[in-house]
Amino acid sequence: RIVASSDVEQSYIMIKPDGVQRGLVGEIISRFEKKGFLLKGLKLFQCPKELAQEHYKDLKERPFFPKLIDYITSGPVICMAWEGDGVVASARKLIGATNPLQAEPGTIRGDLAVQTGRNVVHGSDSPDNGKREIALWFKEGELAQWESVQTPWLI
Ligand code: PPS
Repeated sequence: RIVASSDVEQSYIMIKPDGVQRGLVGEIISRFEKKGFLLKGLKLFQCPKELAQEHYKDLKERPFFPKLIDYITSGPVICMAWEGDGVVASARKLIGATNPLQAEPGTIRGDLAVQTGRNVVHGSDSPDNGKREIALWFKEGELAQWESVQTPWLI
């Protein structure tokens, strides 16, 4: 398990199985890219049940928990680590409200989804959870070391 090497804020963003199956991967990633956050990790991954249960452990008493675990493990997901000042709150804004029918147009869920149980994307709800979730979903060596990139093309 990796531990974030810096104090820079990070968010764990995951495109859920419905987003992958509906061909929305490029569309969703492009919204974070265009916003300007730094991509540190990215992979297509079939999530085992135990990992889904650990990720959502705070919700295990909720009635929808078994359905949520079945949903998240029903097909491959895209795991991402995004970094930057304010990335957690900003990503939550880009994603929109949990219930896509209440999400504002212009947000990912507002534009692309209709059901809470098929809301296409997850974003960490606090910087501490961002670090915790990235450590849970990524292994040592899977995150890019942008500090070692010599040519600052973008900045
Ligand atoms: S709560 O009620 O405030 O604790 O929940 P919330 O933060 O809105 O949602 C926590 C995660 O549970 C998912 N969720 C659901 N999944 C399936 N069915 C139902 N009814 C449901 N309600 C909430 C919700 O999408 C959140 O998951 P992530 O992955 O963070 O979006």
